Amino acid sequence: MDGPSGTGKSSVSRQLATRLRARYLDTGAMYRVATLRVLRLGVDPDDPAAVAAAVAELPLTIGTDPGQELILLAGEDVADEIRGSVVTRAVSAVSAVPSVRELLVALQREIAASAGRIVVEGRDIGTVVLPEADAKVYLTASAEARAHRRNQQNIREGRGDDYQGVLADVQRRDTLDSTRAVSPLRPAADAVQVDTSELAMDEVIDALYRVVGHAVAGNGGPR
Ligand code: DC
Repeated sequence: MDGPSGTGKSSVSRQLATRLRARYLDTGAMYRVATLRVLRLGVDPDDPAAVAAAVAELPLTIGTDPGQELILLAGEDVADEIRGSVVTRAVSAVSAVPSVRELLVALQREIAASAGRIVVEGRDIGTVVLPEADAKVYLTASAEARAHRRNQQNIREGRGDDYQGVLADVQRRDTLDSTRAVSPLRPAADAVQVDTSELAMDEVIDALYRVVGHAVAGNGGPR
């Protein structure tokens, strides 16, 4: 499951995994933990060599239960801290460093291989991490729809109301993520694209459930 932020990708992926009785992996959370580590070590996120050194050893634990989030850095629960604005502002720079991507992509492949059926969400899952995935989905939505959703989420979670600021951040990250040299954000050639701008969450999940059912049937039926 790939696509830019604010398409509802995380909620949709988690609920789809539950419905499929599959595991779930949030790869964005892994880049966020790497970013938190960089910031905690006092390293400049815009210094790729220093970032690479800081992340060379990353004591990261991530769970794959779609019903229960588990994200630890050196044993500490960092699930909330990695969603804060400090990490969000720095994560594009950290995730553009090739050695960071190599490390995390290897870990993502390991987790996926040992999980059996799993919904993996990110930016480069269909193109780079798991090009042989049974079903590939690319979620899109207008920048305005995505900013609106993220802003509503911020309000719900007590992080304040700032639609214009969130919109600017969404557009800035879109540009960084889609123009970076390593694994730029783009749909895989064989991904099914779903525009979620005008769809309710349940409608998106129903559509994706059909996409996965179709893909799995085409590969010899449910396993
Ligand atoms: O989905 P998210 O907003 O939590 O992702 C955080 C950042 O990590 C986002 O700016 C892009 C990056 N990312 C990535 O480069 N590759 C992935 N597979 C997942 C996320």
